[in-house]
Amino acid sequence: MAQRGCFITLEGLDGAGKSTHVAWMTDWLRQAGISLLCTREPGGTPLGEQLREILLHQAMDLRTETLLMFAARNEHWRTHIQPALAQGLWVLCDRYTDASYAYQGGGRQLGTDAIAQLDAWTQPGHGPDCTFLFDVPLAVARTRVQQGRGTADRFEQENAAFFERTRQAYLDRMAADPDRFRHIDASHGIPEIRIRLDACLQALVQHWQSRP
Ligand code: TYD
Repeated sequence: MAQRGCFITLEGLDGAGKSTHVAWMTDWLRQAGISLLCTREPGGTPLGEQLREILLHQAMDLRTETLLMFAARNEHWRTHIQPALAQGLWVLCDRYTDASYAYQGGGRQLGTDAIAQLDAWTQPGHGPDCTFLFDVPLAVARTRVQQGRGTADRFEQENAAFFERTRQAYLDRMAADPDRFRHIDASHGIPEIRIRLDACLQALVQHWQSRP
């Protein structure tokens, strides 16, 4: 039986520059000979992508938002991520459950209990093996979002206090599970960030491939 693949997630505030690095990390891993599923949340399945459109653009109650994030995630995990990992593929996912803790739990102040319950119910026993947190001061993230694309989605329209809470919730997640997280100072330029990512990915591949 194939060795289980490594499950990597990317997290950070809108405007942290995460999307810029996804393609580069995907290429890096493929060039290292790793078979990879590159995916995102909310989304990643036909149903999940429909839910993404609703989540990003339609006003709704916070519990509904949280349940829909987990509905999309459950579908994604069971039909795509888990089978891929079981076949030995690595999975690189742009946002995952930490985003629910950060955005719904922190930003929207739902707290962690409900999210922890949904997490335990939909995904007992297995989460990401490694999470890259692209962390920037809020002012940098806000400027990048404002300079970026056209219409802001429901999350990008939130105020500074929302994003301060979201960032803090990410940092709390990292403090609680330091072995899983790689902190990426995303206020640096792209070349410096790539040097850091390169080192992290090399170490991760070595570690994973030397496991018994
Ligand atoms: P993202 O893919 O980063 O958007 P973009 O296309 O702008 O790069 O994520 C979409 C938004 O969804 C983002 O603002 C964070 C939010 N989100 C949550 O609030 N909770 C979640 O569990 C997830 C996965 C995303």
